[in-house]
Amino acid sequence: MGLQRTLSIIKPDGVKKGVVGEIVKRFENAGLSVIAMKMKTLSRNEAEGFYAVHRERPFFGELVEFMTSGPVVLMILEGEGAIAKNRELMGATNPADAAPGTIRADFATDIGENTVHGSDAIDTAAFETSWFFAGIEINTVERI
Ligand code: CMP
Repeated sequence: MGLQRTLSIIKPDGVKKGVVGEIVKRFENAGLSVIAMKMKTLSRNEAEGFYAVHRERPFFGELVEFMTSGPVVLMILEGEGAIAKNRELMGATNPADAAPGTIRADFATDIGENTVHGSDAIDTAAFETSWFFAGIEINTVERI
């Protein structure tokens, strides 16, 4: 699988619930390294562009409204098989279906306010990391 990068977002509900540290700890404990990180309140354009693939979905308006409702934490995670590893740690999109012990099972409210986002494939990870981070904001981290 090799070394991968993936975009992680701690959504407004995760920030408001005060679980940023807990979520980052889970990533680090699983061997994923945070190589870029910032907190940001997304503009409507930033959220709409990020979720452009969902533009025709009935929940698009609600999704953009929620994602702009407060600050989010944006991260690039790096590690062996980082895309799948992050998705495993997050659990299913709908917290009602998420495996026990996953981030969404532990913290999410419902399918809309589901605490975290993670890229789902290599091509979307490339698009999503570059949507929020310039090359100069991405660091080299060597775990010891
Ligand atoms: P995310 O992984 O960020 O990708 C798209 C998001 O759309 C998803 O998580 C959910 O938060 C949201 N979403 C998906 N389905 C629904 C739905 N039926 N109602 C509201 N939001 C949804």
